Amino acid sequence: MGKVKEKNILVGIAFNAYDPITSQKTERPSEESVEQTAKEALTAVTELGYTAFILPLHKSFMAFLNRVKDLNADVIINLCEAFAGYPQLESNVAAAFELLGVAFTGNDSRTLALCLNKFKTKAILKQSGLPTAPAKILDSPDAKLDIPFPVIVKPNTEDASLGVHPDSVVRDQENLQKQVQRIIDIHEQPALVEAYIDGREFNVGVLDDGKPEALPVSEIDFSKMPEGQEHILCYEAKWLTDDILYTSTPPVCPAQIDDALKAKLQETAVKAFLTTSCRDYARVDFRMDKKGKIYVLEVNPNPDISLNAGYARALAAAGIEYKVFWQKMIEKALARKAKK
Ligand SMILES: Nc1ncnc2c1ncn2[C@@H]1O[C@H](COP(=O)(O)OP(=O)(O)O)[C@@H](O)[C@H]1O
Ligand SMILES: [Mg+2]
Repeated sequence: MGKVKEKNILVGIAFNAYDPITSQKTERPSEESVEQTAKEALTAVTELGYTAFILPLHKSFMAFLNRVKDLNADVIINLCEAFAGYPQLESNVAAAFELLGVAFTGNDSRTLALCLNKFKTKAILKQSGLPTAPAKILDSPDAKLDIPFPVIVKPNTEDASLGVHPDSVVRDQENLQKQVQRIIDIHEQPALVEAYIDGREFNVGVLDDGKPEALPVSEIDFSKMPEGQEHILCYEAKWLTDDILYTSTPPVCPAQIDDALKAKLQETAVKAFLTTSCRDYARVDFRMDKKGKIYVLEVNPNPDISLNAGYARALAAAGIEYKVFWQKMIEKALARKAKK
């Protein structure tokens, strides 16, 4: 496909802009990274020959809708991960595009809403025969837990490791209660308490360009972590680039694993993608215990898609150029609309 055709297509790039007033509940680095992704997507699609503009979503949804209406783009690259600092409202933005009949890239509102609820997603994966760690929702620090320690305590409906910190892994009742109370107080939601899977961590991107296929497996290398630190990708390790937890958890892609494990992870990632009705792209997070059993932690239907994050790294490892990825996604979104 040449540039002549793309030139006639107008692309809008929607993202949630960090706003210190409305985003008090979340943390700055993860929120700001979406704007960076929007700029990278803008560069990529401009290079492809499309005419593109960014569509920042601030605290007024009405102002955003007016911007969308004024631009009247043929297709929107939807990078919105939250509204007014709430990831729980991420799916509503996609739902608005659906109601407006706008073509947009990435997952639909139903899949975004489902996967943001980790416990519900796990129930569906489990029912479909996919392995997930034993888990329970605790809505009070005094609620009874029937999962043996160690466990990890995380918010049930957040993403980007929000609410996951070095002390989220607990080994006794006192710390369990403390962490559950912290989730309730700070994140205003029940805690998801999960068996702590001690072992390696993998991520598998899935790309659906006609049919879902797994990208090369990525692994978090915990070998350089300071002594005594839990081997988890907590908020500090994911976002605070100057933190020792960030610098000591480098991703390795492709992961150094044997063919059998690679096949198992990739096959499970595609099944998880299909089970949660994903489309276009998603990333599936895994842990593997010391016996070699793998567990799906979660499905990310709106993963960090910036150039320095895992999904783009996996695309590069698969030999797929970042801009070619966006071209495929734009064409898929336009084809979905044409079909309607
Ligand atoms: N059951 C678990 N066992 C071991 N580590 C876990 C478990 N659940 C979460 N983690 C750690 O916490 C990180 C964030 O958890 P995850 O469920 O992927 O939520 P999110 O990325 O949406 O914040 C994971 O990347 C992993 O390092
Ligand atoms: Mg994750």
